[in-house]
Amino acid sequence: MLNCGYNGYHLSLLITNDTEIRELNRRYRNKDASTNVLSFPFREAIIDDPALGQQEIKELGDIVISIETAYNEANQLEQNVNTRLQWLITHGLLHLLGYDHERSEKEAERMYKKEEELLSKYIPSRRTTMPKLAINVDHVATIRQARGGKEPDPVSAAAICELAGASGIVVHLREDRRHIQDRDIYLLRETVKTKLNLEMGANKEIINIALDLQPDMVTLVPEKRQELTTEGGLDVIAERKKLAKAVKKFHAASIPVSMFVDPDPDQIQVAHDIGATFVEIHTGRYCDAMSEKDRNHEFSLVESAAEFAFNLGLVVNGGHGLDYQTTARIASLSTIDELSIGHAIISRAVFTGLETAVRDMQAIIAGAQIQAYY
Ligand code: PXP
Repeated sequence: MLNCGYNGYHLSLLITNDTEIRELNRRYRNKDASTNVLSFPFREAIIDDPALGQQEIKELGDIVISIETAYNEANQLEQNVNTRLQWLITHGLLHLLGYDHERSEKEAERMYKKEEELLSKYIPSRRTTMPKLAINVDHVATIRQARGGKEPDPVSAAAICELAGASGIVVHLREDRRHIQDRDIYLLRETVKTKLNLEMGANKEIINIALDLQPDMVTLVPEKRQELTTEGGLDVIAERKKLAKAVKKFHAASIPVSMFVDPDPDQIQVAHDIGATFVEIHTGRYCDAMSEKDRNHEFSLVESAAEFAFNLGLVVNGGHGLDYQTTARIASLSTIDELSIGHAIISRAVFTGLETAVRDMQAIIAGAQIQAYY
């Protein structure tokens, strides 16, 4: 439940599932069916209250949205789920303000016109606080697999990262199971309290595991058996059909999808068009640049790609190769919502302990100035 306000006006927004919205629809509207959005105006409930006198009522009421139906509709309309949510919130808000398309054809036309007007004014709000830090604990599993035993356990590592302030845990379940194992992801699903992001290739076996696991989100990445680590972004253009099919499966299960992409607007556009909710922009080339000139060039590519994705309405994350030197500059971009960092933090943890390594990275992110305010 989110309480939102503007200019002294307030409303509550509840994002729920089909079962709960159906129950609310049945209880308060006598309709035993789930739906996409419900509006409960507050005004009518207190309009006769003599204690309020002439006072303007600034409590608008409640909007309830079923995220499951929002995903299904986004799938049918081949829309990004954020776009669908914008429409549902706008539609619900207009109902709170007294518009009602069910009243008459004329009223429906008035409401749809207002909807279009409000949606055309929508500007995604930029982050004004520090980006979130999601930590990839694959490398803890890499050390464990070197001996094939039980230590160190990525599940314990994830708990320490969360205690130190991480906002999410990322693990990559590779087809060859070189580090993270099936046992890890199922235990993490039970223990992670922030957000579990399952990184994965879009292959059938792993998709089925992800659908069973129900992580908080998935990040689709290219996967080659011979590579040491993920080497570049997805070719969303070339693999459009296969990736679109995977997105549909995840959306049918209400699992948001991120796509790991190079800082290339053409790739980002297609990721958006096939329904990704997030993109994670590959920062590897920026981090690996050997000269200042190259690094500045790579940074400007990340910066403009993040801007492009943000303006499409995508939630923009960044990651790969970020360390204690390269992170601050990326964290200063007001378009970036979250950074996904693994190797640098786990490497430092060998010397400082994991908690200190996480806190040191958090301090760098917190200290990065947001350079571009809207
Ligand atoms: N994001 C993605 C998509 C990745 O594949 C990886 C590596 O597993 C990371 C972020 C984290 O990269 P690093 O370990 O270099 O911080």
